[in-house]
Amino acid sequence: MYFIANWKMHGNARYIEKANSVIKLLKIRKYKNIKIIYCPPYTLLKTFFDKYKNSNISIGSQNCHPYSDFGPFTGSINSKLIKSTGSKYIIIGHSENRNDGDTNIIINKKIKSALRENLKVIFCIGETLTEKKKNITNKILKKQISIGLKKIKKFQNIIFAYEPVWSIGTGLVPKRNELIKNLKFIRKTILNLSNIKNIKILYGGSVNPNNAKKLAEINEISGFLIGGASLNAKNFIDIIKKSIN
Ligand code: PGA
Repeated sequence: MYFIANWKMHGNARYIEKANSVIKLLKIRKYKNIKIIYCPPYTLLKTFFDKYKNSNISIGSQNCHPYSDFGPFTGSINSKLIKSTGSKYIIIGHSENRNDGDTNIIINKKIKSALRENLKVIFCIGETLTEKKKNITNKILKKQISIGLKKIKKFQNIIFAYEPVWSIGTGLVPKRNELIKNLKFIRKTILNLSNIKNIKILYGGSVNPNNAKKLAEINEISGFLIGGASLNAKNFIDIIKKSIN
């Protein structure tokens, strides 16, 4: 199981200490095989890496600029710069960035640039409430996957994160049947593009200590992308504990 903490636009150097209790938990045999990835803001990546480089947690960024090389892009951070912080992962396609103008084509460029730097991509997809109501969820997911992954071969370095936009930060989580149906559709769509084994699909959207157990029981889910609840070390740990039997 993957547990990815997406801190969004929160955090300072003191926040990093939150990882101590998680590292302690990973020493317990039962939790040895889980994968913890912290995605703090860009400004904390290097400090985070330096402090925990000898532990079994990893770090990742929350986004990147689509341009692979260095260049005149004031205020931007690309995959090369992210790689240089010690990050191994990168979230791409988050709905909050899609909302800020990231199209499927831009996301495709970002994924390509991240893979070029050998970063592992956490590729977010998901429908909005309007799309869900219009019954076009499958169409949207298919489009996000096929354009996002256009001309990409290294699928083994991509982890998928299904995040229904209407469930991010709202406390709402899809019904079990609906979630399984959408996860199966995502898997089938990925398999149509590439014959990879071990596709990992995470779920994200209002995961908390109260719903983690039920969600983790769904076979199609390989882990969680956690926003709000990951900012509180106790909640994050409770989610992990509830998810692992
Ligand atoms: P949330 O955010 O857990 O606060 O709903 C998840 C995400 O945006 O990745």
